[in-house]
Amino acid sequence: MSNAISGFSKLSKSEKIDWLLNNYFSNKEEARLLVTRYWNSDEVLQKLHDEFIENTITNFYLPFGVSPNFLINDKLYTVPMAIEESSVVAAASKSAKFWYDRGGFKTKVISTEKIGQVHFIFKGDSTKLETFFNTVKSKLFTDASHITKNMEKRGGGILDIELKNKSRDIPNYFQLHATFETLDAMGANFINSCLEQFASTLKEEALNYTDFNADERNIAIVMSILSNYVPNCLVRAEVSCPINDLKSKDILDPQWFAEKFKQAITIAEVEPYRAVTHNKGIMNGIDAVILATGNDFRAVEAGVHAYASRNGSYSSLTHCSIDDGVFKFWIEIPLALGTVGGLTSLHPLVKFALDLLEKPSAKELMQIVAVAGLAQNFAAIKSLTTTGIQQGHMKMHLMNILNQFEATAHEKAKLIEYFKTNVVTHGAVADAINQLRN
Ligand code: MEV
Repeated sequence: MSNAISGFSKLSKSEKIDWLLNNYFSNKEEARLLVTRYWNSDEVLQKLHDEFIENTITNFYLPFGVSPNFLINDKLYTVPMAIEESSVVAAASKSAKFWYDRGGFKTKVISTEKIGQVHFIFKGDSTKLETFFNTVKSKLFTDASHITKNMEKRGGGILDIELKNKSRDIPNYFQLHATFETLDAMGANFINSCLEQFASTLKEEALNYTDFNADERNIAIVMSILSNYVPNCLVRAEVSCPINDLKSKDILDPQWFAEKFKQAITIAEVEPYRAVTHNKGIMNGIDAVILATGNDFRAVEAGVHAYASRNGSYSSLTHCSIDDGVFKFWIEIPLALGTVGGLTSLHPLVKFALDLLEKPSAKELMQIVAVAGLAQNFAAIKSLTTTGIQQGHMKMHLMNILNQFEATAHEKAKLIEYFKTNVVTHGAVADAINQLRN
């Protein structure tokens, strides 16, 4: 175990690496080689990445793949995806092509409202606080105008600020609950700056408010921060077709398939253990596009899962209906995304991803991301209810297993051919590779 270190962030990159090697690695040279091998030879690019966070020692690669043939509202997209899980891009591409042949995805942005809160403690008469709030409300807007000016010019800004009495939950606890339109920006910095300004105006105005007594004048701000729960920043994506049109190479009996598919969705709607895995599969598609386009997947994950629990029990994000011989499958999710600001203009591959999507607005990106989630879920449920998930999954995982055994290009070619007609398991690959080598 190493001793605690102070001033680590002030060390140079090579001093940091030396400290790590001296404290944690027996084979120092091997570890050093590994870390430095992942540096980019383009120093400008490397510096850019070094400066994204503190204490960068190297880069951590993820595959950046693309999934073509996504027909969304009659426009064709090739969707960028950054993800390590073998089968995700293949599954997305398969679903995209399946629905391309059946009219594609239809999507709609339902709402785009973001939320932020100033949490504070007020000890006193809540009706006096309400009167005070109504008196200072317009000043909350005007004091923030230096922050909102440019956003307002483009048609966004603060939508409303409400006072919420939360003292039934925690004694003396109140909130300013504000709503925002941040257009093509995810808006975290904009919202947080507005909120901190609201907090300072609120505190200052209370100090000078003559109707308050001494306790009431002393509003204590606890914190000011946006909420990643955005149930009014919603997008819907849908696919539908006559049941008979589901017929394909893998769906020989479309009526049977549609009903079994719907059963699987209904199970995820009512059974939380299944719903979590079901939604995890949806997030495979969503996170991959979120990451490739430089958005904050932790924010999206937190908000989406809260939304999945909004009725008091964790439930499926997708739904399915069969009416009058028509199969319909849809998703409705909250997504606070940006296509300007943040990483979008900084990370060269994010810029590439957005160019590939033909520079979408945040609203357009919401629709693409929702479709990626729906497509991913369609592929997963289709496999789960027909062949089982492992057949396709292990086929895609074969290359990982071959790489674990350090298979040569020749061995890979032979074994990929062999496993076209044999079941892939870790043991079966080990046996096959040993046989080949002997
Ligand atoms: C694996 O990453 C995702 C699945 O488990 C999703 C699901 O079960 O629906 C296949």
